[in-house]
Amino acid sequence: MAVYQATASAPVNIACIKYWGKRDTKLILPTNSSLSVTLDQDHLRSTTTSRADPSFKHDRLWLNGEEEEIKDGGRMATCIAEMKRLRKEEVEDKQPNEPKLSTYPVHIASFNNFPTAAGLASSASGFAALVSSLAQLYQLPVSPSTLSVIARQGSGSACRSLFGGFVAWEQGTKPDGSDSLAVQVAPQSHWPDIHALICVVSDDKKGTSSTSGMQRTVETSPLLQHRIKHVVPQRMVDISKAILDRDFDAFAAITMADSNQFHAVALDTEPPIFYMNDVSRAIIALIVEYNRVSVAKGLGRKAAYTYDAGPNAVIYTKKENVKEIVELIVKYFPQKEGSFKDVFGLFGGADVAKSEGSVVEGFNEAVAKKFEVGAVKGLIHTKVGDGPRALGKEETLLGDDGFPK
Ligand code: DP6
Repeated sequence: MAVYQATASAPVNIACIKYWGKRDTKLILPTNSSLSVTLDQDHLRSTTTSRADPSFKHDRLWLNGEEEEIKDGGRMATCIAEMKRLRKEEVEDKQPNEPKLSTYPVHIASFNNFPTAAGLASSASGFAALVSSLAQLYQLPVSPSTLSVIARQGSGSACRSLFGGFVAWEQGTKPDGSDSLAVQVAPQSHWPDIHALICVVSDDKKGTSSTSGMQRTVETSPLLQHRIKHVVPQRMVDISKAILDRDFDAFAAITMADSNQFHAVALDTEPPIFYMNDVSRAIIALIVEYNRVSVAKGLGRKAAYTYDAGPNAVIYTKKENVKEIVELIVKYFPQKEGSFKDVFGLFGGADVAKSEGSVVEGFNEAVAKKFEVGAVKGLIHTKVGDGPRALGKEETLLGDDGFPK
């Protein structure tokens, strides 16, 4: 008996122009376009194996080894149903000899290589990996943009993880959502020295989820209306140009302004939503001062911070500046041993936890206070990466019996 099974991995993406607000909550259609950088799957990824088998009783899903219920009419069920529909329409209806995989139940196992405790949203990479593995399983002759329309219905930001490099999610105008999809602005190879430093900020309070937070913003924030009508459209044009021109100064200015405005509309929500904390704000102060020094030297901005729906900072910079920025963060946020994995060998095997850190010449050290060990509990260094990958049999997450290994 033939085994119909496929494994794919998909990347995390971090937006520079933030998606915040839906005009259709069921189809997940946004109130504005957004744009992100895809991060390298060598460091952060979701891996998913899907198998279709007529002997399976019903569709089932395991996340990091634990079975998750696939709720009727829920986002997961919608994505699976949409993928089966594409299989039927694009393959089985056109080539009647192809096996009717769309009628078989599927078993799906997914694994994130980064801990949930890292505070990184896994829904984007997770739904992108799900859709990619099913597309491979079903041998779908469709583009990543078509797949992005389906991933979008799992989690809005997931649609941008269908491409590598620099990716726009065009909001679209059609009520059915068929033109609300991701497109690649530039591949990874266009600007490969864009690196990212994720500062994992310790957080014990349970925050407001993106899904419910953004809906409250849509219902109550007058500032959001200004943002979607008068700010984001021009920013999408400007940041795309900055990327195509490899103009880091402009890229950084727009990225930081958009992060600030996203947190401003969160604050403008009734009741207000706070995602950043004192540590997040201190990191902003450090990056602002670091940029002030480099602008004064005529070098333009060298770093851009951005924050999603939580306190973690993501700092974009060019490869040549990462070491300086790690030193800066370590100076104010002393690290525990092993909290920074030096995957690019910047420190030649030395543990930065042992370092005092340092600031660049001319830096005003009084812009922030020194925090206690653990305020920033880890640093993840990564860079712009490629889109979903098809993986071989060695990487499969399902055993011969069709259950998680
Ligand atoms: C702040 O994509 O997680 O990260 O569509 O409801 O699943 P749902 O929301 P989600 O929201 C992401 C919000 C953000 C900004 C962004 O990634 O653009």
